[in-house]
Amino acid sequence: MKTKFKFKKFIYALAPMAGVTDFAFREICSDFGADMVVSEMISAKALEYNNARTQKMLKENSTCIKSVQLFGHDPKAVAKVVSSGILDKFDIIDFNCGCPAKKIVGNNDGSAMMRDIEHTRQVLQALRNNTCKPISVKFRLGIDNRINFIEFGKMCEEVGVDFVTLHARTREQGYSGEVDKKAYVELINNVNIPVIWSGDISSSKDVKYAKSIGCAGVMIGREALGNPEIFAKLKHKKVNFTKKEIVLRHLNNMREYFENDDATFSYFKKHLLWYLKNYKNATELKKQVCFMQSLQEMYNFIEKNI
Ligand SMILES: Cc1cc2nc3c(=O)[nH]c(=O)nc-3n(C[C@H](O)[C@H](O)[C@H](O)COP(=O)(O)O)c2cc1C
Repeated sequence: MKTKFKFKKFIYALAPMAGVTDFAFREICSDFGADMVVSEMISAKALEYNNARTQKMLKENSTCIKSVQLFGHDPKAVAKVVSSGILDKFDIIDFNCGCPAKKIVGNNDGSAMMRDIEHTRQVLQALRNNTCKPISVKFRLGIDNRINFIEFGKMCEEVGVDFVTLHARTREQGYSGEVDKKAYVELINNVNIPVIWSGDISSSKDVKYAKSIGCAGVMIGREALGNPEIFAKLKHKKVNFTKKEIVLRHLNNMREYFENDDATFSYFKKHLLWYLKNYKNATELKKQVCFMQSLQEMYNFIEKNI
């Protein structure tokens, strides 16, 4: 019989964020103490068809626990991708059942997977049957204003999912309002697999609360934007780098990822804007970033202003 999966310690993880948690950002968060990093959501269908851009998303160099997040509703595509070996460099395969985006839900993916639990069971069974790696599922409270996260979590456990992550908002809530703190306790009381908290974690107090109710770990998403050193801070570790050094290190990771200065420049702009969020003269500095034309200009800006 398979032994039950357990994290060796409480986990501080980087939450999966489409368009954000690419190779470069995952690596810098890992460097600053994230215990686990999760990729952007990656389409199982696109991987099945060997889409080159999608395959590039699998580049990975982090030293912590590496998780790759798949999405899709076709059990055959999931089985084919997982058994092909292309995910072998990752330690964990996560499955997205929480994305609220119209385009994704309209295609019966993401949080739409919470509508038809029996179909989702088949997809997750295909994942389970084709890998010995730990698998996890990330989901919300429910969709169409139907709250069914407990039933959904139990199904995950029955299929053999090793742990789950709850973002305690409904699909309709998107990212607004507060997470339902009671929901994490309810889920923990109803499943016998580890539960990770995702949603609104920004301080040691939040982490302490998640620990106190029995969560196996926390995921940090929006609070890590422009702030990859948050993992060290939450773990009360000293950050021995200046903000400029952090930004330059992140930018260099991005160059290594894209191997192309134009792509690096356009993708790094949003990160640079996030790095500026608490600056006194942020409005003026952000304007300068928006009007920038080249990577060299970006380096000059960082040298002068960060
Ligand atoms: C820009 C952005 C992209 C996201 N992309 C994903 C994704 O690809 N997969 C996923 O499971 N969740 C995704 N999320 C949700 C986060 O993982 C997280 O659950 C949510 O933001 C709540 O946590 P936070 O308050 O720490 O940000 C995304 C969130 C944001 C803000």
